[in-house]
Amino acid sequence: MSETILVAVAWPYGNSQIHAGNLAGSYLPADIYARYHRLKGNRVLMVSGTDSHGTPITMRAEAENVSPEEVYQRFHAGFLELFQKVGITYDLFTSTHTENHFKASQAMFQALMKNGFMYKETQKQWYSPSQGRFLPDRYVEGTCYICGYKNARSDQCDQCGNLLDPTLLIDPQTKIDTSTPELRETEHFFLDLGTLQGDIATFLQDRESYWRPNVLRQSLGQIQTEGLRGRPITRDLEWGIPVPVEGWENKCLYVWFEAVIGYLSASIEWSKIHGQPDAWRSWWKNMDAKTLYFIGKDNIPFHAIIWPAELAGAGVEFDAFFGEEKQEPFVLPYDVPANEFLNLEGQKISGSRNWAIWGLDFLSRYDPDPLRYYLTSIMPETRDADWDWDEFYHHNNDELVATWGNLANRVLSFAYKYWEGVVPDPGELTEADNNLLVEVEKGFETIGGEIEAVRLRSALNEAMRLASEVNKYLDHSAPWKTVKTDRKEAGRSIFVAMKAIDSLKVLFAPFLPYTSQKLHRYLGYEGELFGTQFTESIQDTVGEHSVLQYDPKDAIGKWEKSDLNSGQKFLPPEPLFIKLDKSIVEDERERLGK
Ligand code: MF3
Ligand code: ZN
Repeated sequence: MSETILVAVAWPYGNSQIHAGNLAGSYLPADIYARYHRLKGNRVLMVSGTDSHGTPITMRAEAENVSPEEVYQRFHAGFLELFQKVGITYDLFTSTHTENHFKASQAMFQALMKNGFMYKETQKQWYSPSQGRFLPDRYVEGTCYICGYKNARSDQCDQCGNLLDPTLLIDPQTKIDTSTPELRETEHFFLDLGTLQGDIATFLQDRESYWRPNVLRQSLGQIQTEGLRGRPITRDLEWGIPVPVEGWENKCLYVWFEAVIGYLSASIEWSKIHGQPDAWRSWWKNMDAKTLYFIGKDNIPFHAIIWPAELAGAGVEFDAFFGEEKQEPFVLPYDVPANEFLNLEGQKISGSRNWAIWGLDFLSRYDPDPLRYYLTSIMPETRDADWDWDEFYHHNNDELVATWGNLANRVLSFAYKYWEGVVPDPGELTEADNNLLVEVEKGFETIGGEIEAVRLRSALNEAMRLASEVNKYLDHSAPWKTVKTDRKEAGRSIFVAMKAIDSLKVLFAPFLPYTSQKLHRYLGYEGELFGTQFTESIQDTVGEHSVLQYDPKDAIGKWEKSDLNSGQKFLPPEPLFIKLDKSIVEDERERLGK
């Protein structure tokens, strides 16, 4: 039975470019997972978009003296280009600055209000006397009152990961002019997490057996130690989604309250684009659907506590708001496989210091698959990882080129030369032949199982191990030698190797889609393993936004073992991967921090 799977991917802030750490943290694992499930024939919907509101964008706009809209549009365009070039196959990558998203967010707000999970309270907020305005949380930094970290943002500490009560910050400073802010009163809506705490605790406990320990620790831990308290979800800001309550038009919904709603609104937008306005319900209102959220560890509280609280709290009232006949509760997250951080050459990635590998810049010098390969092989699934250029160089040359690329290349070139581009007739297979094929074909179970459990490092490792097994088999059977003495025997092992390579092509495909596609062609097949990506521009009452989409229509790839037969015509191959020169290591290190 085919499964229904929502792949929800963190929304990049529209205020900076995407670097390798962001790719390893969420976009790449999400894409691998989605591609695998598409090959399995499951119903996948993968959505995300640009997080275009909030203070990360307004701060940049102020610094550059341009509008927030201009800032987010510029970075958004870069995201679309990068995702297309590195093959992150969103069914829809949109933005939070759309009419559709405004409506969905306001409906969630109304639904939570109707159900009694919203209350108003006057709150103290940092105010800048020098600028004459309230300061968003991010504009204020100081010392964390939990762990003592000196550069904590007032709403979250990057050292201990806790969400903070901004008013308790020690030694606050205004980021823009380093003046000392003062606390003043302002009224806001609060999401009543205290009342929802029981539901959230049950939700987390139900998932305890399979969630990553760090995700559980951060979310259950917060409930068990401090307990949940109401959080203000409106702000004194101009850039964002207006609070849908009379008299509140000058305040906005808090960016984190509405950005997570993007998963839902993007699914709704995708349905509208496809002319099936109710299609999103199969992922959101169907208790058999699996929803997975691919995020970095700094996003855990928002996805494991706040978003489930919004979904549970809104309940059927979201449908009621739109006058839907069917009023059903939401599906709560099945898993939140948050990744740890990626460092670079032993240091924390920092955009402002240019201590980063920028996605688009990298792709101006290298191909996408080596990036996908290296990032997956060091993916920070259980602990922080480190990008090391020397290691990148070795992974490329010793594994991609030497183990996998050369295997495919030498077998196909040899076969092409001696059998004139026609897959040889193997005759009767020996035990060794069958053993190899059985071992490679078991990969569909084992690698598939690892991907389903979101252990992508281990899945990729296993695929590479199987490629080495094929190399060993060829070292033994040595068709390059036997072809001179026993052409039949050589043809048999070449047939077996080609069949193994044909299976490996699929086993590698979620990780290395571009080179698997090339190989697919060389092996003599027509058609595309995956669908195609394209962009489109959409106009609505909020503005114009371009979206990236995925069209699965012509995809023929299947998560199934090779059925290559003798007699099939194939093409002379080209190398799948480029061998890198050792000098790139120093060249690349030179670029850092400048
Ligand atoms: N923009 C946030 C970040 O980069 C992630 C938001 S995920 C969302 O940390 F779902 F809330 F949008
Ligand atoms: Zn702290």
